[in-house]
Amino acid sequence: MGELRDAASADIQYDFDIHSPDIADTLDDVYAEMRQKCPVAHSPRYGGHWVATRYDTIQQVMRNPAVFSSESVNVPDTIGQDGSMIPLEIDPPDHGIYRKLINPLFSPKRMAELEPRVREITGELIDEMLKHEKVDFVDAFARALPSRVFLALMGWNVADADKFNHWADTIVLGEPGASEERSTEVRTAAATEVYTYFAEMIDERSESADSEDITQILISGTFEDRKLTQFEVLNILFLFLIGGLHTVQGQLAHTVIHLAQRPEVRRQLVDDLALVPTAVEEMLRRESAVCPARVVKEDHVLDGVQLRAGDKILIPFAAANHDADKFADPDAIDLTRDPNPHLAFGAGNHRCVGSHLARLELRVAFEELHRRIPDYRLDPADPPVRHLSQVRGVVKLPLILGESL
Ligand code: HEM
Repeated sequence: MGELRDAASADIQYDFDIHSPDIADTLDDVYAEMRQKCPVAHSPRYGGHWVATRYDTIQQVMRNPAVFSSESVNVPDTIGQDGSMIPLEIDPPDHGIYRKLINPLFSPKRMAELEPRVREITGELIDEMLKHEKVDFVDAFARALPSRVFLALMGWNVADADKFNHWADTIVLGEPGASEERSTEVRTAAATEVYTYFAEMIDERSESADSEDITQILISGTFEDRKLTQFEVLNILFLFLIGGLHTVQGQLAHTVIHLAQRPEVRRQLVDDLALVPTAVEEMLRRESAVCPARVVKEDHVLDGVQLRAGDKILIPFAAANHDADKFADPDAIDLTRDPNPHLAFGAGNHRCVGSHLARLELRVAFEELHRRIPDYRLDPADPPVRHLSQVRGVVKLPLILGESL
Protein backbone atom coordinates (compact mmCIF):
# COMPACT_ATOMS: atom_id res chain seq x y z
CA MET A 1 0.00 0.00 0.00
CA GLY A 2 1.38 3.40 -0.98
CA GLU A 3 1.00 6.54 1.05
CA LEU A 4 -2.49 8.07 1.17
CA ARG A 5 -2.72 11.26 -0.93
CA ASP A 6 -5.19 14.10 -0.73
CA ALA A 7 -6.15 17.31 -2.53
CA ALA A 8 -3.01 19.02 -1.24
CA SER A 9 -0.56 16.34 -2.48
CA ALA A 10 1.79 17.93 -5.02
CA ASP A 11 2.31 14.80 -7.13
CA ILE A 12 -1.34 14.40 -8.12
CA GLN A 13 -2.01 18.00 -9.20
CA TYR A 14 -2.86 18.37 -12.89
CA ASP A 15 -4.12 21.59 -14.42
CA PHE A 16 -6.95 20.03 -16.40
CA ASP A 17 -9.73 22.17 -17.91
CA ILE A 18 -12.50 20.15 -19.56
CA HIS A 19 -13.71 23.28 -21.38
CA SER A 20 -10.37 24.46 -22.78
CA PRO A 21 -10.22 24.65 -26.59
CA ASP A 22 -6.42 24.38 -26.28
CA ILE A 23 -6.58 20.65 -25.61
CA ALA A 24 -9.47 19.80 -27.96
CA ASP A 25 -7.10 18.15 -30.46
CA THR A 26 -4.80 16.50 -27.93
CA LEU A 27 -7.25 15.31 -25.30
CA ASP A 28 -6.37 11.64 -25.64
CA ASP A 29 -2.69 12.43 -25.01
CA VAL A 30 -3.63 14.50 -21.97
CA TYR A 31 -5.64 11.58 -20.55
CA ALA A 32 -2.78 9.18 -21.31
CA GLU A 33 -0.39 11.38 -19.36
CA MET A 34 -2.78 11.67 -16.42
CA ARG A 35 -3.46 7.93 -16.40
CA GLN A 36 0.25 7.30 -16.21
CA LYS A 37 1.28 10.04 -13.74
CA CYS A 38 -1.77 10.53 -11.51
CA PRO A 39 -4.73 8.26 -12.35
CA VAL A 40 -6.83 10.06 -9.75
CA ALA A 41 -5.72 13.64 -10.32
CA HIS A 42 -6.67 16.91 -8.69
CA SER A 43 -7.34 19.92 -10.91
CA PRO A 44 -7.53 23.47 -9.53
CA ARG A 45 -10.14 24.49 -12.12
CA TYR A 46 -13.74 25.41 -11.29
CA GLY A 47 -13.12 25.58 -7.58
CA GLY A 48 -11.06 22.37 -7.60
CA HIS A 49 -12.19 18.89 -8.64
CA TRP A 50 -10.91 15.35 -9.21
CA VAL A 51 -10.40 13.52 -12.51
CA ALA A 52 -10.19 9.71 -12.74
CA THR A 53 -8.65 8.21 -15.87
CA ARG A 54 -8.36 4.41 -15.35
CA TYR A 55 -11.06 2.04 -16.62
CA ASP A 56 -11.40 0.13 -13.34
CA THR A 57 -11.51 3.30 -11.25
CA ILE A 58 -14.21 4.84 -13.42
CA GLN A 59 -16.21 1.59 -13.19
CA GLN A 60 -15.92 1.70 -9.39
CA VAL A 61 -17.23 5.27 -9.33
CA MET A 62 -20.18 4.51 -11.58
CA ARG A 63 -21.17 1.37 -9.73
CA ASN A 64 -21.27 3.08 -6.35
CA PRO A 65 -24.02 5.73 -6.55
CA ALA A 66 -24.36 5.82 -2.74
CA VAL A 67 -20.89 7.42 -2.49
CA PHE A 68 -20.72 8.97 -5.97
CA SER A 69 -23.97 10.81 -6.48
CA SER A 70 -25.30 12.10 -9.81
CA GLU A 71 -27.04 15.04 -8.12
CA SER A 72 -24.91 17.39 -10.24
CA VAL A 73 -23.08 16.00 -13.28
CA ASN A 74 -21.72 19.28 -14.63
CA VAL A 75 -18.56 21.24 -13.99
CA PRO A 76 -19.33 24.11 -13.38
CA ASP A 77 -22.70 23.26 -11.93
CA THR A 78 -25.29 24.38 -14.50
CA ILE A 79 -25.89 24.27 -18.24
CA GLY A 80 -29.03 26.42 -18.01
CA GLN A 81 -31.48 23.72 -16.99
CA ASP A 82 -34.20 24.44 -14.48
CA GLY A 83 -33.64 22.08 -11.54
CA SER A 84 -32.07 18.60 -11.70
CA MET A 85 -32.06 16.88 -15.06
CA ILE A 86 -34.31 13.81 -14.96
CA PRO A 87 -33.19 11.01 -14.74
CA LEU A 88 -29.54 12.02 -15.21
CA GLU A 89 -29.21 13.93 -11.94
CA ILE A 90 -31.46 11.73 -9.82
CA ASP A 91 -30.07 9.08 -7.46
CA PRO A 92 -31.61 5.74 -6.47
CA PRO A 93 -34.26 4.86 -5.48
CA ASP A 94 -36.15 7.64 -7.36
CA HIS A 95 -33.91 7.17 -10.39
CA GLY A 96 -35.19 3.63 -10.96
CA ILE A 97 -38.80 4.81 -10.89
CA TYR A 98 -38.18 7.30 -13.68
CA ARG A 99 -36.16 4.81 -15.73
CA LYS A 100 -39.01 2.30 -15.64
CA LEU A 101 -41.16 4.88 -17.40
CA ILE A 102 -38.50 6.08 -19.86
CA ASN A 103 -36.80 2.80 -20.90
CA PRO A 104 -39.70 1.55 -23.09
CA LEU A 105 -39.66 4.80 -25.09
CA PHE A 106 -36.31 3.75 -26.59
CA SER A 107 -36.80 -0.03 -26.63
CA PRO A 108 -35.13 -2.14 -29.34
CA LYS A 109 -38.61 -2.91 -30.75
CA ARG A 110 -39.53 0.76 -31.07
CA MET A 111 -36.15 1.45 -32.64
CA ALA A 112 -36.59 -1.38 -35.16
CA GLU A 113 -39.88 0.22 -36.22
CA LEU A 114 -38.10 3.54 -36.68
CA GLU A 115 -35.35 2.11 -38.92
CA PRO A 116 -37.07 2.67 -42.31
CA ARG A 117 -37.64 6.32 -41.41
CA VAL A 118 -34.01 6.73 -40.32
CA ARG A 119 -32.89 5.23 -43.64
CA GLU A 120 -35.17 7.54 -45.54
CA ILE A 121 -33.91 10.68 -43.75
CA THR A 122 -30.31 9.50 -44.22
CA GLY A 123 -30.94 8.98 -47.94
CA GLU A 124 -32.39 12.46 -48.36
CA LEU A 125 -29.38 14.05 -46.66
CA ILE A 126 -26.95 12.04 -48.82
CA ASP A 127 -28.87 12.99 -52.01
CA GLU A 128 -28.37 16.62 -51.05
CA MET A 129 -24.67 16.14 -50.19
CA LEU A 130 -24.00 14.47 -53.53
CA LYS A 131 -24.96 17.65 -55.34
CA HIS A 132 -21.68 19.15 -54.10
CA GLU A 133 -17.99 18.30 -54.36
CA LYS A 134 -17.26 19.72 -50.93
CA VAL A 135 -19.58 19.95 -47.93
CA ASP A 136 -19.42 20.84 -44.28
CA PHE A 137 -20.26 17.36 -43.00
CA VAL A 138 -21.48 18.77 -39.68
CA ASP A 139 -24.06 21.03 -41.33
CA ALA A 140 -24.96 18.70 -44.16
CA PHE A 141 -25.29 15.50 -42.17
CA ALA A 142 -24.05 15.12 -38.60
CA ARG A 143 -26.17 17.90 -37.15
CA ALA A 144 -29.11 17.31 -39.47
CA LEU A 145 -29.65 13.58 -38.93
CA PRO A 146 -30.14 13.28 -35.13
CA SER A 147 -32.52 16.24 -34.90
CA ARG A 148 -34.69 15.00 -37.77
CA VAL A 149 -34.74 11.48 -36.39
CA PHE A 150 -35.58 12.71 -32.91
CA LEU A 151 -38.47 14.82 -34.20
CA ALA A 152 -39.72 11.87 -36.27
CA LEU A 153 -39.56 9.63 -33.19
CA MET A 154 -41.51 12.17 -31.17
CA GLY A 155 -44.05 12.67 -33.97
CA TRP A 156 -43.28 16.40 -33.91
CA ASN A 157 -42.69 18.64 -36.93
CA VAL A 158 -39.45 17.61 -38.69
CA ALA A 159 -39.29 21.13 -40.17
CA ASP A 160 -38.38 22.36 -36.65
CA ALA A 161 -35.02 20.58 -36.90
CA ASP A 162 -32.98 23.75 -37.45
CA LYS A 163 -34.56 25.41 -34.43
CA PHE A 164 -33.73 22.34 -32.34
CA ASN A 165 -30.14 22.32 -33.54
CA HIS A 166 -29.70 25.95 -32.65
CA TRP A 167 -31.00 25.35 -29.12
CA ALA A 168 -28.96 22.23 -28.57
CA ASP A 169 -25.79 23.90 -29.88
CA THR A 170 -26.28 26.93 -27.66
CA ILE A 171 -27.01 24.88 -24.57
CA VAL A 172 -24.00 22.64 -25.08
CA LEU A 173 -21.52 25.18 -26.45
CA GLY A 174 -22.62 28.41 -24.76
CA GLU A 175 -21.22 31.30 -26.74
CA PRO A 176 -17.82 30.15 -28.01
CA GLY A 177 -15.11 32.60 -27.07
CA ALA A 178 -17.31 34.54 -24.63
CA SER A 179 -16.93 34.68 -20.84
CA GLU A 180 -18.41 31.92 -18.67
CA GLU A 181 -21.05 34.40 -17.38
CA ARG A 182 -22.10 35.35 -20.91
CA SER A 183 -22.24 31.68 -21.92
CA THR A 184 -24.47 30.88 -18.96
CA GLU A 185 -26.73 33.76 -20.00
CA VAL A 186 -27.18 32.54 -23.60
CA ARG A 187 -27.61 28.95 -22.41
CA THR A 188 -30.36 29.97 -20.02
CA ALA A 189 -32.12 32.00 -22.75
CA ALA A 190 -32.02 29.01 -25.14
CA ALA A 191 -33.24 26.68 -22.39
CA THR A 192 -36.21 28.99 -21.77
CA GLU A 193 -37.17 28.81 -25.47
CA VAL A 194 -36.89 25.04 -25.39
CA TYR A 195 -39.18 24.80 -22.38
CA THR A 196 -41.75 27.02 -24.14
CA TYR A 197 -41.67 24.81 -27.25
CA PHE A 198 -42.06 21.64 -25.18
CA ALA A 199 -44.91 23.18 -23.17
CA GLU A 200 -46.71 23.85 -26.49
CA MET A 201 -46.21 20.24 -27.59
CA ILE A 202 -47.55 19.04 -24.24
CA ASP A 203 -50.64 21.23 -24.60
CA GLU A 204 -51.23 19.90 -28.11
CA ARG A 205 -50.92 16.30 -27.01
CA SER A 206 -53.05 16.56 -23.88
CA GLU A 207 -56.06 16.00 -26.13
CA SER A 208 -54.56 13.00 -27.96
CA ALA A 209 -55.37 9.45 -26.95
CA ASP A 210 -52.53 7.79 -28.89
CA SER A 211 -51.06 5.33 -26.41
CA GLU A 212 -47.90 4.91 -28.54
CA ASP A 213 -47.10 8.62 -28.63
CA ILE A 214 -44.04 9.44 -26.51
CA THR A 215 -45.26 12.87 -25.36
CA GLN A 216 -48.59 11.29 -24.41
CA ILE A 217 -46.91 8.43 -22.52
CA LEU A 218 -44.92 10.97 -20.51
CA ILE A 219 -47.90 13.23 -19.80
CA SER A 220 -49.92 10.31 -18.48
CA GLY A 221 -46.88 8.72 -16.80
CA THR A 222 -46.81 8.14 -13.07
CA PHE A 223 -44.24 8.34 -10.31
CA GLU A 224 -45.35 5.72 -7.81
CA ASP A 225 -49.01 6.66 -7.22
CA ARG A 226 -49.06 10.22 -8.58
CA LYS A 227 -48.98 11.60 -12.11
CA LEU A 228 -45.79 13.24 -13.35
CA THR A 229 -45.94 17.02 -13.06
CA GLN A 230 -45.54 19.18 -16.13
CA PHE A 231 -42.21 20.29 -14.68
CA GLU A 232 -40.97 16.69 -14.65
CA VAL A 233 -42.14 16.04 -18.22
CA LEU A 234 -40.42 19.20 -19.45
CA ASN A 235 -37.29 18.25 -17.67
CA ILE A 236 -37.19 14.76 -19.18
CA LEU A 237 -37.74 16.19 -22.67
CA PHE A 238 -34.97 18.72 -22.08
CA LEU A 239 -32.59 15.89 -21.34
CA PHE A 240 -33.59 14.02 -24.51
CA LEU A 241 -32.69 17.15 -26.45
CA ILE A 242 -29.29 17.72 -24.92
CA GLY A 243 -28.47 14.02 -24.50
CA GLY A 244 -29.67 12.85 -27.88
CA LEU A 245 -28.51 15.37 -30.46
CA HIS A 246 -24.98 16.54 -29.79
CA THR A 247 -23.75 13.13 -28.80
CA VAL A 248 -24.77 11.50 -32.07
CA GLN A 249 -23.64 14.54 -34.06
CA GLY A 250 -20.17 14.38 -32.54
CA GLN A 251 -19.92 10.63 -32.95
CA LEU A 252 -20.84 10.83 -36.65
CA ALA A 253 -18.37 13.63 -37.30
CA HIS A 254 -15.49 12.11 -35.31
CA THR A 255 -15.93 8.81 -37.10
CA VAL A 256 -15.77 10.48 -40.49
CA ILE A 257 -12.60 12.34 -39.47
CA HIS A 258 -10.92 9.09 -38.41
CA LEU A 259 -11.99 7.24 -41.54
CA ALA A 260 -11.03 10.13 -43.83
CA GLN A 261 -7.56 10.07 -42.31
CA ARG A 262 -7.25 6.28 -42.69
CA PRO A 263 -8.27 5.30 -46.25
CA GLU A 264 -7.15 1.70 -45.68
CA VAL A 265 -9.52 1.29 -42.74
CA ARG A 266 -12.33 2.97 -44.65
CA ARG A 267 -11.70 0.69 -47.63
CA GLN A 268 -12.08 -2.33 -45.33
CA LEU A 269 -15.51 -1.02 -44.32
CA VAL A 270 -16.59 -0.10 -47.85
CA ASP A 271 -15.61 -3.59 -49.06
CA ASP A 272 -17.57 -5.30 -46.29
CA LEU A 273 -20.50 -3.35 -44.92
CA ALA A 274 -21.27 -6.28 -42.62
CA LEU A 275 -18.49 -4.82 -40.46
CA VAL A 276 -20.55 -1.73 -39.70
CA PRO A 277 -21.97 -2.94 -36.32
CA THR A 278 -18.53 -3.73 -34.81
CA ALA A 279 -17.10 -0.63 -36.50
CA VAL A 280 -19.76 1.49 -34.76
CA GLU A 281 -18.73 0.02 -31.38
CA GLU A 282 -15.06 0.60 -32.08
CA MET A 283 -15.64 4.20 -33.07
CA LEU A 284 -17.77 4.72 -29.95
CA ARG A 285 -14.86 3.36 -27.90
CA ARG A 286 -12.36 5.51 -29.82
CA GLU A 287 -14.25 8.74 -29.29
CA SER A 288 -16.39 8.35 -26.12
CA ALA A 289 -17.49 11.96 -26.11
CA VAL A 290 -19.17 12.13 -22.71
CA CYS A 291 -17.41 13.09 -19.49
CA PRO A 292 -19.87 13.42 -16.62
CA ALA A 293 -19.10 14.33 -13.02
CA ARG A 294 -20.19 12.83 -9.72
CA VAL A 295 -20.53 14.43 -6.29
CA VAL A 296 -18.75 12.63 -3.44
CA LYS A 297 -21.30 12.10 -0.64
CA GLU A 298 -18.98 10.89 2.11
CA ASP A 299 -15.24 10.81 2.75
CA HIS A 300 -13.91 7.99 0.60
CA VAL A 301 -10.53 6.59 -0.43
CA LEU A 302 -10.31 5.96 -4.18
CA ASP A 303 -7.14 4.29 -5.47
CA GLY A 304 -5.12 5.60 -2.53
CA VAL A 305 -6.51 9.14 -2.75
CA GLN A 306 -8.58 10.68 0.03
CA LEU A 307 -11.74 12.29 -1.36
CA ARG A 308 -13.90 14.43 0.90
CA ALA A 309 -17.69 14.75 1.10
CA GLY A 310 -18.79 17.53 -1.26
CA ASP A 311 -15.90 17.05 -3.73
CA LYS A 312 -16.61 16.65 -7.42
CA ILE A 313 -14.99 14.07 -9.68
CA LEU A 314 -14.96 13.92 -13.48
CA ILE A 315 -15.12 10.47 -15.09
CA PRO A 316 -14.08 10.84 -18.75
CA PHE A 317 -15.16 7.70 -20.57
CA ALA A 318 -12.64 8.47 -23.32
CA ALA A 319 -9.89 7.98 -20.74
CA ALA A 320 -11.36 4.67 -19.55
CA ASN A 321 -11.71 3.40 -23.10
CA HIS A 322 -8.05 4.00 -23.93
CA ASP A 323 -6.71 2.18 -20.89
CA ALA A 324 -4.19 -0.41 -22.08
CA ASP A 325 -4.96 -2.54 -19.00
CA LYS A 326 -8.38 -3.16 -20.52
CA PHE A 327 -7.99 -2.83 -24.31
CA ALA A 328 -5.18 -4.30 -26.39
CA ASP A 329 -3.57 -1.62 -28.54
CA PRO A 330 -6.11 0.99 -27.38
CA ASP A 331 -5.04 3.74 -29.80
CA ALA A 332 -5.49 1.55 -32.87
CA ILE A 333 -8.78 1.40 -34.74
CA ASP A 334 -9.77 -2.24 -35.15
CA LEU A 335 -13.13 -2.45 -36.92
CA THR A 336 -13.46 -6.10 -35.88
CA ARG A 337 -12.67 -5.60 -32.17
CA ASP A 338 -14.91 -8.02 -30.28
CA PRO A 339 -15.60 -8.16 -27.37
CA ASN A 340 -15.48 -4.41 -26.92
CA PRO A 341 -16.63 -3.59 -23.37
CA HIS A 342 -16.34 0.17 -23.89
CA LEU A 343 -18.01 2.65 -21.57
CA ALA A 344 -19.09 5.19 -24.21
CA PHE A 345 -22.69 4.84 -22.97
CA GLY A 346 -21.65 4.77 -19.32
CA ALA A 347 -22.40 1.86 -16.97
CA GLY A 348 -24.48 1.08 -13.93
CA ASN A 349 -27.87 2.63 -13.24
CA HIS A 350 -27.39 5.72 -15.44
CA ARG A 351 -26.33 3.79 -18.53
CA CYS A 352 -27.53 5.68 -21.60
CA VAL A 353 -31.23 5.20 -22.19
CA GLY A 354 -30.84 6.25 -25.84
CA SER A 355 -28.12 3.76 -26.75
CA HIS A 356 -30.39 1.72 -29.05
CA LEU A 357 -31.40 4.90 -30.85
CA ALA A 358 -27.80 6.08 -31.13
CA ARG A 359 -26.66 2.71 -32.47
CA LEU A 360 -29.49 2.66 -35.00
CA GLU A 361 -28.59 6.12 -36.31
CA LEU A 362 -24.87 5.36 -36.45
CA ARG A 363 -25.33 1.98 -38.15
CA VAL A 364 -27.73 3.23 -40.81
CA ALA A 365 -25.63 6.36 -41.40
CA PHE A 366 -22.40 4.44 -41.92
CA GLU A 367 -24.00 1.80 -44.10
CA GLU A 368 -25.58 4.38 -46.39
CA LEU A 369 -22.66 6.81 -46.38
CA HIS A 370 -20.12 4.16 -47.31
CA ARG A 371 -22.39 2.52 -49.84
CA ARG A 372 -22.98 5.79 -51.64
CA ILE A 373 -19.86 7.84 -50.86
CA PRO A 374 -16.97 5.37 -50.61
CA ASP A 375 -14.33 8.08 -51.09
CA TYR A 376 -13.93 11.27 -49.15
CA ARG A 377 -11.06 13.22 -47.68
CA LEU A 378 -10.34 16.15 -45.42
CA ASP A 379 -9.21 19.46 -46.88
CA PRO A 380 -5.73 20.25 -45.47
CA ALA A 381 -6.36 23.94 -46.16
CA ASP A 382 -9.63 23.88 -44.22
CA PRO A 383 -9.25 21.45 -41.30
CA PRO A 384 -12.03 20.27 -38.96
CA VAL A 385 -12.75 22.32 -35.85
CA ARG A 386 -13.39 20.35 -32.66
CA HIS A 387 -14.75 21.71 -29.45
CA LEU A 388 -14.23 20.47 -25.96
CA SER A 389 -16.73 20.37 -23.14
CA GLN A 390 -18.29 17.60 -21.12
CA VAL A 391 -19.68 16.35 -24.43
CA ARG A 392 -16.90 16.87 -26.92
CA GLY A 393 -17.82 17.40 -30.52
CA VAL A 394 -17.01 18.84 -33.90
CA VAL A 395 -18.37 22.21 -34.99
CA LYS A 396 -17.05 22.21 -38.55
CA LEU A 397 -15.90 19.39 -40.83
CA PRO A 398 -15.10 20.42 -44.41
CA LEU A 399 -15.12 17.24 -46.50
CA ILE A 400 -14.18 16.69 -50.14
CA LEU A 401 -16.40 14.02 -51.68
CA GLY A 402 -15.43 11.50 -54.35
CA GLU A 403 -11.69 11.68 -53.62
CA SER A 404 -9.43 9.74 -51.31
CA LEU A 405 -6.09 10.48 -49.69
C1 HEM B 1 -23.42 8.41 -29.47
C2 HEM B 1 -24.46 8.84 -28.79
C3 HEM B 1 -24.60 8.85 -27.30
C4 HEM B 1 -23.64 8.74 -26.32
C5 HEM B 1 -22.14 8.56 -26.50
C6 HEM B 1 -24.33 8.83 -25.05
C7 HEM B 1 -23.72 8.71 -23.82
C8 HEM B 1 -24.37 8.72 -22.61
C9 HEM B 1 -23.74 8.50 -21.33
C10 HEM B 1 -22.27 8.25 -21.13
C11 HEM B 1 -24.69 8.56 -20.37
C12 HEM B 1 -24.49 8.37 -18.86
C13 HEM B 1 -24.12 9.65 -18.19
C14 HEM B 1 -23.82 9.46 -16.71
O1 HEM B 1 -23.59 8.34 -16.26
O2 HEM B 1 -23.80 10.47 -15.99
C15 HEM B 1 -25.95 8.83 -21.04
C16 HEM B 1 -27.15 8.99 -20.40
C17 HEM B 1 -28.31 9.34 -21.05
N1 HEM B 1 -28.50 9.43 -22.42
FE1 HEM B 1 -27.13 9.11 -23.84
N2 HEM B 1 -25.67 9.01 -25.28
C18 HEM B 1 -25.87 9.02 -26.63
C19 HEM B 1 -27.10 9.15 -27.26
C20 HEM B 1 -28.30 9.36 -26.65
C21 HEM B 1 -29.54 9.49 -27.32
C22 HEM B 1 -29.77 9.37 -28.83
C23 HEM B 1 -30.49 9.72 -26.37
C24 HEM B 1 -31.96 9.87 -26.63
C25 HEM B 1 -32.67 10.85 -26.46
C26 HEM B 1 -29.81 9.74 -25.09
C27 HEM B 1 -30.42 9.97 -23.87
C28 HEM B 1 -29.80 9.79 -22.64
C29 HEM B 1 -30.51 9.92 -21.37
C30 HEM B 1 -31.96 10.29 -21.17
C31 HEM B 1 -29.55 9.65 -20.37
C32 HEM B 1 -29.76 9.65 -18.86
C33 HEM B 1 -29.88 8.24 -18.34
C34 HEM B 1 -29.93 8.17 -16.83
O3 HEM B 1 -29.43 9.06 -16.17
O4 HEM B 1 -30.48 7.19 -16.33
N3 HEM B 1 -28.48 9.51 -25.30
N4 HEM B 1 -25.73 8.91 -22.41
